[in-house]
Amino acid sequence: MTNLPLPADPQAVVTELQATGYVADEALATSAFLLLHLGRPLLLEGPSGVGKTELAQALATLCQTELIRLQCYEGLDVHSAVYEWNYQKQLLAIRLEEASGANRLDSKQAQIFSEEFLLERPLLSALRHSAKSPVLLIDEVDRADEEFEAFLLELLSVFQITIPELGTVQATHRPHVVLTSNRTRELSDALKRRCLYHWIGYPDAEQEQEIVRQRLPQVEAELARQTVQCIQSLRELPLSKSPGVAETLDWAQALLLLNRPHLDELTFERTMGCVLKSTEDQELVRKRGLDNLLTAAVG
Ligand SMILES: Nc1ncnc2c1ncn2[C@@H]1O[C@H](COP(=O)(O)OP(=O)(O)O)[C@@H](O)[C@H]1O
Ligand SMILES: [Mg+2]
Repeated sequence: MTNLPLPADPQAVVTELQATGYVADEALATSAFLLLHLGRPLLLEGPSGVGKTELAQALATLCQTELIRLQCYEGLDVHSAVYEWNYQKQLLAIRLEEASGANRLDSKQAQIFSEEFLLERPLLSALRHSAKSPVLLIDEVDRADEEFEAFLLELLSVFQITIPELGTVQATHRPHVVLTSNRTRELSDALKRRCLYHWIGYPDAEQEQEIVRQRLPQVEAELARQTVQCIQSLRELPLSKSPGVAETLDWAQALLLLNRPHLDELTFERTMGCVLKSTEDQELVRKRGLDNLLTAAVG
């Protein structure tokens, strides 16, 4: 299997992403186009719930290839990201061999540090993916520590990894790499230099309505409009956590389930938890007056 022909221009990326249900503007599509054609990693930053992770999934669908995901977290080490030895299986093999009477240390060592005992983790899988370039998503890289970031930097420049017991693994097909960050800390300049960079902010009302239409076609246009307008107004308030597109979709789905054809004060109060995820934020919105907010947003 080989790589499919890539989209010919950014407009084609917009169209092909749309076909997967992902709504991208030309600027984001241009970054994605360059990622696919230049083979450079794409770093996406932005608030949470604006479609950073989903873009990687949509690109994998577009390229008809596999998505390999590495979720970063504090304390993530190279081993859990690249490979581990199957310790239990190694122990068992040693016991079995001892029981059979054979006890040659050299051959045993060679045997238990072989492919059979290797546990592939996402980064190694991405390098050894033999069918065609996978999309490698390194998600929320800002959560990993700086040491891991330095390791990534090296990996992303050479696309190879050395396993002391097995040798060097070179990527058969270079993966298309998407990194995302919610910006809980600044990433190093060196990592940024290696990547193309794109900031995904909140979509404008029109684009967000289009996302609702794509993701939840069952929602009536007027309800989608009201939900989106209200969310857009909420984003202008000094909330501790502004609602992302994910919240818009949750809310629209909740209203649909509750059979509400439009947003009113009582419905807003009852379903607030879909959108505002702390009591302080809910209180702030109540103080502004739900009815004021609704009239301003929905008309
Ligand atoms: N542009 C978009 N087109 C389609 N769906 C989107 C878009 N942006 C966000 N979504 C939807 O919003 C939700 C959150 O997106 P996600 O990628 O998880 O956000 P992030 O990674 O930025 O926190 C997902 O369900 C995703 O499908
Ligand atoms: Mg995400």
